[in-house]
Amino acid sequence: MSQTVIAIDGPAASGKGTVSKAISEKLQFNYLDTGKLYRAIGAKYLEGYQPIAAARSLESNDLDKYDLQKPEIAQAASEIASIPEVRAALLEFQRNFSQKMPGAVLDGRDIGTVVCPDAKIKIFLTASLEARAKRRYVELNRHDKKISFETILEQIRQRDERDQTRRSSPMIAAKDAKIFDTSKLSINEAVDKVFNYIQTKI
Ligand code: C5P
Repeated sequence: MSQTVIAIDGPAASGKGTVSKAISEKLQFNYLDTGKLYRAIGAKYLEGYQPIAAARSLESNDLDKYDLQKPEIAQAASEIASIPEVRAALLEFQRNFSQKMPGAVLDGRDIGTVVCPDAKIKIFLTASLEARAKRRYVELNRHDKKISFETILEQIRQRDERDQTRRSSPMIAAKDAKIFDTSKLSINEAVDKVFNYIQTKI
């Protein structure tokens, strides 16, 4: 029998990482932040690796080698993420992960559409560009006082556009996904709303 899979997709800083982690902890499910896979390949690309080769040889310790939160790594990730061979190289790992006992939460951009189209529960989290840029600004400003709000907003805008318009697995809500707008929600409110919805489905 296949495991319960919860697919949580959405754009940068929509809250999907924090919500996904909280849901996985409440349900004691495994959790995979698939953005980390693309970020690690982006980091390798910035070091001079060829993206397809980096994706095919990705190892779990690559995920701990870099500071994956860096904005330049996020940008590089969204560039290499448009290469179909890079995406294909990550598919099997993500699908195997989704079948781990007792269930799994995966977050990303194409989980409900491509990686786990049969997921029992699909969520698409979104929020206005301004609300997302504000969140990311507060987060990044803790480590880098020099980074400006305008720069972050522009980086997220570019990443949204690239992720939405790429040919291979563009970021889009699955037809059967439940959409939540988190612009005006605190993180606790977002977690509660999503969790309440999941409970009606499990
Ligand atoms: O979610 P996160 O911001 O860490 O993702 C970084 C980048 O990786 C995204 O902008 C996107 O281009 C890519 N990505 C993707 N598919 C996923 C997860 C991330 O294309 N499932």
